[in-house]
Amino acid sequence: MGHHTFDIERADALEDPGRYEYCSREELLAALDIGPTTDTDAVIADIGSGTGFYTDAVAPCADLVYAVDVQSGMHDRYRTKGHPANVSFVTAEASSLPIESNKLDAAFSTMTYHEFADPDALSELARVIRPGGRIVTVDWSKCGSGESGPPRSERYELADAVRESAAAGFTTVDATSRIETFIHIGRR
Ligand SMILES: C[S@@+](CC[C@H](N)C(=O)[O-])C[C@H]1O[C@@H](n2cnc3c(N)ncnc32)[C@H](O)[C@@H]1O
Repeated sequence: MGHHTFDIERADALEDPGRYEYCSREELLAALDIGPTTDTDAVIADIGSGTGFYTDAVAPCADLVYAVDVQSGMHDRYRTKGHPANVSFVTAEASSLPIESNKLDAAFSTMTYHEFADPDALSELARVIRPGGRIVTVDWSKCGSGESGPPRSERYELADAVRESAAAGFTTVDATSRIETFIHIGRR
């Protein structure tokens, strides 16, 4: 089950370019299997989009990106910052998405899995991602030091993401642990 929700008062920290150290734009696009030379017709959802730091990275390579966040105040911050025209704001819980079944080519979450992870949310993601579509999860690892990001007690291990996504019907395409974070790619 997820833990506390990110404090909007700290939202400026989400715009720190140093965050690419933990997941670069290129790595995220490759994991989603989209880019200027591949699938620019893609419909994508960013689950827990926050200020749109990674939504902005993905939007130029997609037709439509749903920025999904449970806190409307985060959407306000993103709107104030400015956003690409193909970003559509959705204020919702990951476990209850107002998106039609099989609509998405892929969904991703960055540094948010620990806030929404539960079987209901993963089942809901399996509902909205089309067969063959991808789910990409990048998050702080329980194996990390805990010096940046949430405390280790609130984190998950890569094995948790592999197991829970399999239970929701995803097949693992790639699963990698790094120094402080993990990345999991699943296919529906
Ligand atoms: C740590 S921030 C990360 C934001 C963004 N993914 C990034 O990497 O810059 C987590 C975001 O997820 C949102 N969030 C937390 N739980 C959620 C849930 N159950 N459903 C949707 N969004 C959620 C929070 O409101 C917050 O904006």
